[in-house]
Amino acid sequence: MDEKKKKGKKYTERGFLNYSDKVVELFKNPKNVGEIEDADIVVQEGDPTCGDTIRLSLKFENDVIEDAKFLSFGCAANIATGSILTEMIKGKTVREAEEITMNDVEEEVGGLPPVKRHCAVLATKSLQKALNKALEKIGER
Ligand code: FES
Repeated sequence: MDEKKKKGKKYTERGFLNYSDKVVELFKNPKNVGEIEDADIVVQEGDPTCGDTIRLSLKFENDVIEDAKFLSFGCAANIATGSILTEMIKGKTVREAEEITMNDVEEEVGGLPPVKRHCAVLATKSLQKALNKALEKIGER
């Protein structure tokens, strides 16, 4: 089924949540999975409503995010949004990364079913937490 037809449907013909092709692709082959050994910042953020968690580790070169990895303890959308987030922030400064919203993350994965939008919120919250820590570390917050 093409993406346009898929978008309007909540469930697939087989009764699964109707994820975008990008979410499915990233769920099957997530990028940047793991934890950076000599990370500058490691944070963990959870969503008490679903019980899922994401762990984000960042390595900086001055104020630029040189490397980013994530570990997911959650759903397919948690994995996909964690993966895309790490790709989106690599090479960005702290200030540039601060501008990333949950809508940006959701857009990058081709949209999320309404019941899964909070997964993009969780990924973004972990980023904000990590960036706050980074700014505290360099004395700017
Ligand atoms: S259902 Fe909780 S992060 Fe996806």
